[in-house]
Amino acid sequence: MTDAALPIGVFDSGVGGLTVLNALREKLPGENLIYLGDTARVPYGTKSSLSVTRYAEQAAACLIDRKIKLLVIACNTASAVAVEPLQQKYPLIPVMGVVGPGADACCAVSKNRHIGVIATESTVNNQAYQQAILKRMPDASVAAQSCSLFVALAEEGWHEGELVEQIVAKCLAPLKQIESPAIDTLVLGCTHFPALKECIGKVMGADVVLVDSAQTTAEAVREELQRSGMLNQADAGDVEFLVTDDPQRFSRVAEHFFEGELTAGEIQQVDIQHFDKG
Ligand code: DGL
Repeated sequence: MTDAALPIGVFDSGVGGLTVLNALREKLPGENLIYLGDTARVPYGTKSSLSVTRYAEQAAACLIDRKIKLLVIACNTASAVAVEPLQQKYPLIPVMGVVGPGADACCAVSKNRHIGVIATESTVNNQAYQQAILKRMPDASVAAQSCSLFVALAEEGWHEGELVEQIVAKCLAPLKQIESPAIDTLVLGCTHFPALKECIGKVMGADVVLVDSAQTTAEAVREELQRSGMLNQADAGDVEFLVTDDPQRFSRVAEHFFEGELTAGEIQQVDIQHFDKG
């Protein structure tokens, strides 16, 4: 196998990273992909940085063991803490998270430099997006709101309807209340939130641009592969699915996220806990 034909490894805490996988498949149809969902330990969004970093190290080691050419940390919570440690640990392959590309995109679209971020509790507490945005645009004002409840709504397939709108409106109220000036850009800083994009857009109003970090990450991956001459020009790439818990549940919940057919028989259950820090 030539280096360009090697797969891209993508990992997430569970099913949500399938939104990043969708974007990668759309922008890079020739690429082979291996997706790893750490379903045995999801959610990451309420766990400590120490635990999430350890989980991310094990997931990365599992994918690197399978020979990949690039690693995408699709989980925002893991990206917030593990990009740098993994870049240091694996200097020979590009390690890309979703926070940097998301911050790049919102800085590019915000006109008034008042930016909102919604993410899991852990991503908000780690200040990951806040710092990434201020690094790129030091005079920006950033308001971040934890919306962990959206993760459950998205997984249950509750993406629209009156009740969902009420919940979304309640969670987003602190961001909507910001005035003079109001935020003009909102980053969807969690893998699950693109599933609620329509409802979030309706609640925030047409003046607020929603930035989907799944899309911007896929674009950043394409640019990186092009730059390094590692783009796979094949017609259609393969996708392999690995999970750390029951494939049945993954395939069922995946229906709400994955733009494609996926049966439990195509999903392999793996144990990644023996991939230690090394
Ligand atoms: N994948 C996580 C993220 O993007 C959301 C789900 C979880 O809490 O594990 O932050």
